[in-house]
Amino acid sequence: MTKNTIPVIAIDGPAGSGKGTLARALATHLEYDYLDTGSLYRAVAWKAMDDKIDPTNETETTKIAQSILSENLMNPGFRDEKVGEGASIVAAHPGVRKALFDVQKGFGSNKFKAKKGAILDGRDIGTKIFPETPLKFFITASAETRAERRFKELQSMGKACNYGDVLRDIKARDARDSTRKVDPLTPADDAIVIDTSGLDPDHVVEKVLSVIRSKTRGLS
Ligand code: CDP
Repeated sequence: MTKNTIPVIAIDGPAGSGKGTLARALATHLEYDYLDTGSLYRAVAWKAMDDKIDPTNETETTKIAQSILSENLMNPGFRDEKVGEGASIVAAHPGVRKALFDVQKGFGSNKFKAKKGAILDGRDIGTKIFPETPLKFFITASAETRAERRFKELQSMGKACNYGDVLRDIKARDARDSTRKVDPLTPADDAIVIDTSGLDPDHVVEKVLSVIRSKTRGLS
């Protein structure tokens, strides 16, 4: 870490792996700012759906991505499964990814706002957005475990769903995210990989904090 940068924690992984839960807990514990980068892609997909724009249309979805601000990401509608699917379609467009790069990079700097540190979760934070950070984690779990978690999350939000459909959607999204040409979902070479199947969230937080403590001094 050079002098004028803040510590950045990169957390990547597939849908339902527990990366969001982990990132929020770390942000609270370390008092770092947190950006759920999936919500940027979800915001693009949501706006495209609202404007009746086909998510496969790169030119139009790139225009939307160019207008997305990180302050504008709190819409509860973004968590809808249809929006998640749309997000993984727009996320395959190089133009969309390029448009969202600066928002994410800017979040990991303290140029405009005093920050102790930044945590970003997504698919390519360690490989593309902050390859320079030594604090990289790749959080994963079996497709069945992830579908179970997502199913419970949707149920708790009062959304009608069934486990079989959720599992099918998770597998389709994994395939799309891992095989796309640009910034596919894959661990960075130096990421610490953690499989959270069968682990409770507190255990995962403790594990990650101990790695962070061993790689840095005086953060927590
Ligand atoms: O919450 P969940 O893990 O289901 O998804 P998300 O993180 O909200 O991301 C939605 C979609 O956006 C993913 O399926 C990816 O296709 C895409 N995405 C991405 O390509 N790069 C990121 N840094 C974050 C999300």
